[in-house]
Amino acid sequence: MIKMKLLVTGWLWYIGSHTVCELLNSWNQVFVVDNLSNCSIDVKDKIFQITWKQIDFQQVDLLNKIDLEKVFVWNQFDAVIHFAWLKSVWESMQKPFLYYENNLTWTLNLLDLMWKYWVKNMIFSSSATVYTDQNTFPVKEDWFLWAINPYWYSKLIVEQMLQWLAVTWAIRSIALRYFNPIWAHSSGLIGEKPNWIPNNLLPYIMDVAAWKREKISVFGWDYETVDWSWVRDYIHVVDLAKGHLDALKFLIDNSQSSFEAINLGTWNWTSVLQMIDYTSQIIWKKLNYEIVWRRAGDLPAVYCDPSKAKDLLWWSAELSVKQAIQDSYNFTLKNLI
Ligand code: UD1
Repeated sequence: MIKMKLLVTGWLWYIGSHTVCELLNSWNQVFVVDNLSNCSIDVKDKIFQITWKQIDFQQVDLLNKIDLEKVFVWNQFDAVIHFAWLKSVWESMQKPFLYYENNLTWTLNLLDLMWKYWVKNMIFSSSATVYTDQNTFPVKEDWFLWAINPYWYSKLIVEQMLQWLAVTWAIRSIALRYFNPIWAHSSGLIGEKPNWIPNNLLPYIMDVAAWKREKISVFGWDYETVDWSWVRDYIHVVDLAKGHLDALKFLIDNSQSSFEAINLGTWNWTSVLQMIDYTSQIIWKKLNYEIVWRRAGDLPAVYCDPSKAKDLLWWSAELSVKQAIQDSYNFTLKNLI
């Protein structure tokens, strides 16, 4: 019944935990390594409550190549799904070396051991941020790539490393470029719960919904949308997680494929004011907001053309933004403290 044995790095960081659920539900065997620097081991039990299946887990920092090698010595993996990443734009500007050291060295150690132990397939958790500075939308995969901070740049560097490893047939890979994930499982057991002031829009809206903060700051009011507020391509994390399964299947079934970068988004955009309005409707509460100046480094519009994912992986998003907001709110209510 077991289909594949997979190594997942950084599972507890939101998308990883949802992807692990989907992998287990399709009878794959999952081994997770995480340094637990930014998350709690409780998620392991929650994943068990959702799937009734166990994972192998080891607390390993990917900087520690000796410990990481032990994992490869004792397990023969079919593929690696690499999520482990530091991901704050602001922090990456303050501590660029930390970002390069972690994000790049983590990945290099992993790739080197994959090469040594003959693990040929990788799914890389990339991001729409590799498309910085685009003015035309929706974004397609072959568009110009650029990055304006160390966090985004580290994603771009790894994508390019993977491309060259594929050219030499060392490691075959798919970089999944996520648009704006909304993190919450319909069970309400796992989701996004920042320990600090939320950076991203929906977690902030949820804090206001849960009376933790008074009002939402709407960044920017100068883009030609229905209401002048900025737009993003929000995608439910469960759809995103399923995209990893489809990508894995594609990689394993198509041995001639070497490297692909694939957008995971919905082709739809939603404005900031629409997000606030949808949430107000769902929770039956009017949410306060104020318009403020744009955030440094922010883009007015980001949304994608995901037709490559449909053509190649037979994947497309199924859950709506309203469903994602509803699931996020359920998660917020279940995790108030
Ligand atoms: C942000 C990060 C990006 C990361 C992505 C997903 C920045 C500059 N970019 O992108 O690196 O990969 O999240 O995690 O941090 N907004 C408000 N008020 C808020 C928060 C956000 O109006 O309090 C607006 C933003 O201007 C944007 C939209 O809401 O138009 C979505 O913002 P956010 O959720 O932070 O995602 P991104 O800016 O797309």
